[in-house]
Amino acid sequence: MTDQHLRPEVDFDPWSEQYTREGVDAERRMHDKCPVSFSSHYGGFWVVTGYDDLRSGLRDHETFSSEKTFDAAGNAYGGVTVPTSSAYKNVPEEVDPPEWNEYRRLLSKPFAPAAVRRMQPRIDAFTTEAIDRIIEHGQGDLILDIANPVTALITLDILGLPLADWEFYAGPIHRLAYDQQSDEVKAGMQACHDKLAQTVIERRERPQTGLTDDLIAARIGGEPLPDPLLVDMIGQILAGGLDTTGSLLGHAFDHLDRHRDDHVRLIEDEKFLQIATEEFLRWSSPVIGLARNARKSTVIHGQVIEPGDRLVFIYRAANRDPAVFDAPDDIVLTRFPNPHTAFGIGIHRCLGSNLARAVFQTVLRNVLRRMPDYRIDREQARQFPILAVANGWIQMPATFTPGPRLGLSPSKER
Ligand code: HEM
Repeated sequence: MTDQHLRPEVDFDPWSEQYTREGVDAERRMHDKCPVSFSSHYGGFWVVTGYDDLRSGLRDHETFSSEKTFDAAGNAYGGVTVPTSSAYKNVPEEVDPPEWNEYRRLLSKPFAPAAVRRMQPRIDAFTTEAIDRIIEHGQGDLILDIANPVTALITLDILGLPLADWEFYAGPIHRLAYDQQSDEVKAGMQACHDKLAQTVIERRERPQTGLTDDLIAARIGGEPLPDPLLVDMIGQILAGGLDTTGSLLGHAFDHLDRHRDDHVRLIEDEKFLQIATEEFLRWSSPVIGLARNARKSTVIHGQVIEPGDRLVFIYRAANRDPAVFDAPDDIVLTRFPNPHTAFGIGIHRCLGSNLARAVFQTVLRNVLRRMPDYRIDREQARQFPILAVANGWIQMPATFTPGPRLGLSPSKER
């Protein structure tokens, strides 16, 4: 048993505005106290901030479970957030092997490198269309008008869902990132859930093309997947595809507005753009941290973890671990190698990482090319007030010299 009096205690609440304000400083204080510390919020959980501890812990999915379960009354346990979100189960993220293997396999095809390369013309077209909508006005919002529609449209395109519905889904999913408790958000998420459930029923009768239809046609052990599972899987792709890449873009726009010398090189030097992408990922860590449930007793960094203990692994803290990264708080766009953990580690490592990189690089290149002198209105730009789920931006209004439209409207096609 852990001697609770010797346990390194920290006052850490991922859902507090104080944590949003203090950010990396709060993580460093905890790390300096001990890379594995204990917070008594939400029934108590361990906080893992060290790079090596995080990597070895997340690789050990047999000890550290992601599984979310529900009791008969609908109360949720486990899963990847602290406290456990009672909303929905993210599949495959909140599933352990052996079930995880099949679910991940069924979702993988459109996210493979070659499939993402084939998707490039669509990513280009959605990006061009989004910029076209604001380019003549000389003002627009880098998040609301560009990052949000492009990430949502490409995700719906992969799923084969109506593109016209992008705001219907994106609205509540964005709010969910920082406002899980409001009735408005709960109602919006319920509406998304109901619409997905209805879509599954309709598409079973009248199949179209897309990942949704592939999942409906799929069989595990000769059996079709039950509708609630299909909705959880489609819902996970929607949730995974939106705020994550959007958050990364927000941090890059912010940095590049302050540091304009790199713009031309990012447009013209493909290799530099690729290396810089990894640094934006490391530095911003769009998903700051995720949780696990201990299944067996084990020891991390001298701390005894008991079965049933909850742990939060903080990717951002690992990505700023001075033992691994020189000048960890600086954005060094030429940093290489860059073994960051922003896409997670182990079997649950991000399924959408190839897509995220392609969308990020396409949007960034096009914004820098078509709006090279953009300036963010810093009075109006707003980050998420809570960063427990995604380290993103609500809005980022900007002005720029107006330019010509290029005239593509792919989002009107379906
Ligand atoms: C910059 C963008 C992104 C970041 C930083 C990011 C981050 C992450 C992280 C940290 C995990 C690990 C979860 C865990 O271990 O519990 C993850 C998993 C996942 N991500 Fe992403 N993600 C991004 C973009 C995307 C996109 C674009 C999609 C799909 C459209 C996506 C879909 C998923 C899925 C399905 C999983 C669960 C994989 C599994 O459990 O096997 N992500 N992501």
